[in-house]
Order: sequence, then structure tokens, then C-alpha cells
Amino acid sequence: MIYLSPSLLSADMSRLAEAVDVIADTADYVHCDVMDGHFVPNLTFGAPVVEAVKRISVLPLDVHLMIEAPSRWINDYIKAGLDTNDFLTFHVETEAESEEVIERIRDSGVRPGIAVKPGTGFDEFKHLIGIVDQVLIMTVEPGFGGQSFMRDKLEKATLTRSVSSSVVIGVDGGIDEETAPEAVRAGANLLVAGTAVYGGNDPTLALRRLRASVETV
Ligand code: DX5
Ligand code: ZN
Repeated sequence: MIYLSPSLLSADMSRLAEAVDVIADTADYVHCDVMDGHFVPNLTFGAPVVEAVKRISVLPLDVHLMIEAPSRWINDYIKAGLDTNDFLTFHVETEAESEEVIERIRDSGVRPGIAVKPGTGFDEFKHLIGIVDQVLIMTVEPGFGGQSFMRDKLEKATLTRSVSSSVVIGVDGGIDEETAPEAVRAGANLLVAGTAVYGGNDPTLALRRLRASVETV
């Protein structure tokens, strides 16, 4: 099973509810990119918007925190109504005490995930793979949609898969019909796509094509 997780970052923010609705039948998750203007040089939205998306979405959320000091903020996201079907993912580069953050997310009844920047090596996060539900491998520098795919980062998906057959492995950045099959072949089973889904005028068709591209991999 390959999960598709369209990123709202590329959606029309003035019509967020429509963007969530239009993918309801073709996607598996709604990917919410939270950026704080510190961990990444861009600013998007925070817990109140995640709460609103959770309220209207029939799909589970895949919340990707690109924020400094996530331990200080995760409670706000848990209180936004996330449950056992939703992922709450933070960057390992931000925390010395990643295990503790993971445990707090798990104890709150939400699925913990870790995200890794392109420059973060496998050895820096491999000890966490067994205690999370998702490893999100960035194939662009976090911060912006529409960047080109860094294919050499897929090696981390393969290494992650070699130590866990059950963890969800997400790939985020530059995913389209061309790169999605490469990511799946490398061991990924969750594909985040912003531009490829919302960049055109038919997100539903784009999702169908994305799914078709990985069907025979
Ligand atoms: C980038 C975000 C991604 C972004 C991907 O920091 O984490 O989720 O939306 O956008 P595309 O698919 O356009 O590369
Ligand atoms: Zn993301």
C-alpha cells in the first residue's frame, strides 16, 4: 500500500477547505507543513489552522513540523484534535531529546514521526526508527515547494527499510510521476507532493496519475 499525502503548502490558502475536500477520495493523508520562520526561512501556519483542517478533513493528517524547539509546541498540535490516525512529525535536527518528544507524542495517542533534512546522515537517526511510526526523508531543503528532487537522499529510505519493514517511510520534496517510482523502489511508502498535486488545475487527476505511476513498481 502506497500512501499519498498532498501538501497544502501549494494549495490556494484562500480556499483551504476546498483544497482539503478535493483530495478526499483520492489521497490517504493531508500533509500540513508548519514552518516557523526560524528552523526554515519561511512561515506558514500553526496549530489553529491545523485544528481547522482536522475538523473538516475526512482524511487523517500528516503534520510536518518545521519548527525550532518542537517539545515546546507539540501540546498545541495534540490539542488541535489529532488522534491515533494522524502523524505528528518533527525534525531530529532540532532536539537533543528526540526520544522524549517521541514518547510524549505517543503517550498523547498520536502517531510520532521524525523528519530528516537532506544533510542529516542515517547514523544520526537510525536509533529512533524502532520507536516512531514514520520516518520522513526530505529530498529538498525544507522551507519551500517546487524545488528539484535530490535523488541521492533515497539511499536513506533504503537503509531505513533495511532495519524496519513496518515503519512508514515518507519522501518529501520534488515528488511527481517521474520521481515517485524511484522513491517507492528505494523503500518509501508515503509520498508527499505539493506542486505535482495543487500546482495544476486538477488535483484529483494529478493524484490518480501519481498513484498510477507507482502501481506497477
Ligand atoms: C517543503 C515541504 C514540502 C513541500 C513539498 O519544506 O516540507 O512538503 O510542500 O513541495 P513540492 O512537492 O512542491 O516539492
Ligand atoms: Zn512537508
